[in-house]
Amino acid sequence: MPMNVDAPMRLDRLLCLLALGSRSQVRNIVKGGRIAVNGQTEKNADRRLNPGDSVALSGQTLDARTVRHVMLYKPCGVLTAAMDKKQKTVLDLLPPLYKACGCMPVGRLDKDTEGLLLLSTDGEMAHRLLSPKRHVEKCYRAEVDGPLNPADVAAFAQGLTLSDFTAQPARLEILSSCAEKAVALVWVHEGKYHQVRRMFAARGRTVTALKRLSIGPLALDESLQPGEYRELEPREVEMLLSAVSGEENP
Ligand code: URA
Repeated sequence: MPMNVDAPMRLDRLLCLLALGSRSQVRNIVKGGRIAVNGQTEKNADRRLNPGDSVALSGQTLDARTVRHVMLYKPCGVLTAAMDKKQKTVLDLLPPLYKACGCMPVGRLDKDTEGLLLLSTDGEMAHRLLSPKRHVEKCYRAEVDGPLNPADVAAFAQGLTLSDFTAQPARLEILSSCAEKAVALVWVHEGKYHQVRRMFAARGRTVTALKRLSIGPLALDESLQPGEYRELEPREVEMLLSAVSGEENP
């Protein structure tokens, strides 16, 4: 993975984005002669950097990328928000670097939903992934408190009418069903508040556990445990970008 500077910017700004300190702290680090750019000590914090430059701190090359895309296995009990005064948020699960460089959750998962959450510095990509007009499919595994049957599959496929909107047609696949419980996969193209829970509620079922498995072509890495994260591979970023390229569909 390339570690060099990925966008033109001033040295002090880059060091702040890499969470090395406040503006004045990073300027002091530079003045102290601890930073090298392309192998040469650089004491000017206003130095303009170009893509491809390498930056080292005390002889250690920094991972100087400021465009970041992270896959987090969001655990239950954590808020999908950048910050909250009282409760733990998904950004609290990541090293400070990700907050400093402006990584934001792409859409939301409820506090009690677990699974794939994407965080990115790319606001345009996030916007496109979330637009219902781009029909990016999200797959969830849901456990509900009673049986599901072919009539539920048909109702999901039809487009369920909820109190304030009609959900777009969604695919429901029943994995198991008995009197007390059913497990199903559901694919939706929208991300309205409590959407999946409300769709099941419209069929008289309460969701007892919900996990997001994929967003478009991006699947939750099965080697991640709840609370763990990893950066996307370049191939995965390309897949996501190509899933949202082109015109919106009505
Ligand atoms: N639908 C829900 O009801 N909750 C989520 O967290 C995601 C989709």
